[in-house]
Amino acid sequence: MSRHPNFIPPITEQRGAEYAPIIESLLAALDLEDKTVLLSGQDLWSLPALPKIGLRSLVMSDGPVGVRGVGWGADDPSLTLPSPTALAATWDPELAHRAGQVLAQEAHRKGVHVLLAPTVNLHRSPLGGRHFEAYSEDPLLTARIGAGYVNGVQEQGVAATIKHFVANDAETQRFTVNNQVGPRALRELYLAPFEEIIATARPWALMSAYNSVNGTTMTEHHHLQVQVLRREWGYDGAVVSDWLAARDTVRAIEGGLDIAMPGPLTIFGPALAAAVRAGEVAESTVDDAVRRVLLLAARLGLLADVAPAVPESARPVPPDGIATAHEIAARAMVLLRNQDRVLPLDPEAVGSIALIGRAARDARVLGGGSATVFPARIVSPLEGLWAALPTNVALTYAVGADPNEGFDLAATGFDLHAVLRAEDGAVLAEQPLTLARVRWTDTALPAEADFHALASVEFTGTFTPQETGPHVFGIGGLGRFRLTVGDRVLFDGMQETPEHADPFEALTAPPTPHGSAELEAGRPVTISLLNATPKAALGPIQGVSFTLAVQEPRLDDDTLIAEAVTAAAAAEVAVVVVATTTAQESEGSDRENLRLPGRQDELIARVAAANPRTVVVVNSGSPVEMPWREEVSAILVSWFPGQEGGAALADVLLGRAEPGGRLPTTWPVRLADAPVSLVTPTDGVLPYDEGIFIGYPAWQRLDVRPAYPFGHGLGYTDWHYENIVATAREVRVTLRNSGSRPGREIVQIYAGPVDADDSRPACRLAGFATATADPGETVEVDIPLAERIFQIWDETRGRWSTRPGPYLIRAGHSSTDPGLSTTVRVTATDQEEVTSAHP
Ligand code: BGC
Repeated sequence: MSRHPNFIPPITEQRGAEYAPIIESLLAALDLEDKTVLLSGQDLWSLPALPKIGLRSLVMSDGPVGVRGVGWGADDPSLTLPSPTALAATWDPELAHRAGQVLAQEAHRKGVHVLLAPTVNLHRSPLGGRHFEAYSEDPLLTARIGAGYVNGVQEQGVAATIKHFVANDAETQRFTVNNQVGPRALRELYLAPFEEIIATARPWALMSAYNSVNGTTMTEHHHLQVQVLRREWGYDGAVVSDWLAARDTVRAIEGGLDIAMPGPLTIFGPALAAAVRAGEVAESTVDDAVRRVLLLAARLGLLADVAPAVPESARPVPPDGIATAHEIAARAMVLLRNQDRVLPLDPEAVGSIALIGRAARDARVLGGGSATVFPARIVSPLEGLWAALPTNVALTYAVGADPNEGFDLAATGFDLHAVLRAEDGAVLAEQPLTLARVRWTDTALPAEADFHALASVEFTGTFTPQETGPHVFGIGGLGRFRLTVGDRVLFDGMQETPEHADPFEALTAPPTPHGSAELEAGRPVTISLLNATPKAALGPIQGVSFTLAVQEPRLDDDTLIAEAVTAAAAAEVAVVVVATTTAQESEGSDRENLRLPGRQDELIARVAAANPRTVVVVNSGSPVEMPWREEVSAILVSWFPGQEGGAALADVLLGRAEPGGRLPTTWPVRLADAPVSLVTPTDGVLPYDEGIFIGYPAWQRLDVRPAYPFGHGLGYTDWHYENIVATAREVRVTLRNSGSRPGREIVQIYAGPVDADDSRPACRLAGFATATADPGETVEVDIPLAERIFQIWDETRGRWSTRPGPYLIRAGHSSTDPGLSTTVRVTATDQEEVTSAHP
């Protein structure tokens, strides 16, 4: 029972060339105004309709764990899958394919045509704030997962958008940073996933990044967007700017940008028409961009009487969304350590479990920023275990230590609604709030209220506290606010835009505290948060976004930890769920360190001292330091597991599912050991001085060892690798399930020159495959070798060049497992030099 190793689902029907005649005739019917308007967002998420050519408006939405839709609130929930690091940890392109299928179904449900995902930037440094939103430190694994996802999305007739092209690998000064990347690193690492996904899955859209590469901002990067992407790789999709990334009309259109987002004020539209009239831009350049937008529209079925690339009748029936979310979450979990096989827990034998941790009750299911969606339900670890355990098992819960040093959005105990008023005080609309947060675009205000008439928005209602004591209130968003709790005004003033703020500060910055009120449990108080400048906060984006947050009185951590230790000591097994916070893992900023926030490290050490069977569940999207890792029995990484995470966790803990994940990125012992920890530019420049050495190829050159290497992850059975046979094109591995349970193994193939010198990694991931077998069963897997593994980017000649010679081919459980190896001799004829797209 084994699947073909590099399973890539069928390439989506393209029909690119077939559309050419109709596109030409439609183009001929457009005047300059029409054309330039078509390249410019009409609002935050869409392009305008052009009824005169039968073109409907094209709607885009993030991405990548769910489809947010044009609204951005809890009132419009989205199926929420595990985050990208989790998806990559499955090492399973077929599962990524299914993820894409269910998201496309969500897109159809929400009227979205273009999904702004997947993110295929690399994990250059563990400090990257959007690490959780990218797949891996390895370009091949990134490409394979990304291609599966794109195929799944597009097979359903929805466009996928690979992003952010290119080298958008950190968040600090992301709008302006100039990443200095050498040609080899650019080709062999950062461009590689884009290149392979374009070759194998043909995404219909690509997003141009905020940053510069080697001095040119990406939306204007003629060499990368025109020379490499279009001419060399033959990319025929549309290039859309990241939101607010397009800066200069002439340079952007000539640099290969097709669509400037968001609108309505962009550098295209009337500004582009004027540039053409002034002779600064050739109309033929505009025509080329329009052709690509019309091709995208044609593929999506947005042109009247033009068949879409994937007609409804040709779309496969997508899998069930909730079941897929559940399956990915379980398959993604990485068992880092399992002393004395403490896991899986036997529900018939274990008498009592102490479940500990704030995140066990209030699960962290996704990361922050544009990836945020609102799930209709969340299964927490507490709910998951509670539902899964037989009634004879005593399950106790203790908070332990609260990692959340910040705020929670006002929800529990709050009975609020938003009142939208005009200048004269007339009420334009009212909307109940389940969560004290609004994010409205100008065209999607409640009750279709007129954005231009809007003068203020007030959250008003009551709050009934659960606890007695000081409650700290905070406001998220920018502009003039007045906050009243009971009869006290806690704040009346401006929340200013900080210096060097991200343009999306109003959306991504954590709430600012504004005083506290002494409140009594059960006694309601009135609340009012008046936003007197609701339209000013989002800079060039037209919309309204602000939040009310609260920090409830907390028991002090000493008491909480003591309670948890008592609970752990009284139970047979302690399960501690620890997590990062939204302030740590979010778009818009990088992490400052890799430590678990609050006193969670201390909590684990003390619980482990009280109970020798302590299992730690790490609920984070990216690596954390685990100073206690040798003191606990088991460590399971659950990532940001999506809405069904708690149910999946229960399955894995109780052995109903195998923890199928393998690390898609190296986890260091401490940040100081990581090969790349510089994410802060100096004078606007971030040098990628490490060149081609990031991730495990860099670790191989260090004296220090990581806590857990790339590819590591234990299952619940054992595998014996019996044989390896290789040519320069394919490896056959024979392995046996030597344990007592059915299992799943990710067979990883690494290859490197026998005489490795400093110019090339000693080994690189060359392929992988999933094997499944029953106890005692022997299976064979055939794994094609990626051609690029024997090549380097020849900087002098500007092309790929095969490096002949003997290569060590190794099959094993991880990047550091000696496994089984053999040698192949590569000659230039085995692996011809290629300069084209097919890796
Ligand atoms: C992010 C993109 C996202 C876009 C639209 C940007 O800030 O970088 O990934 O697709 O916003 O939300």
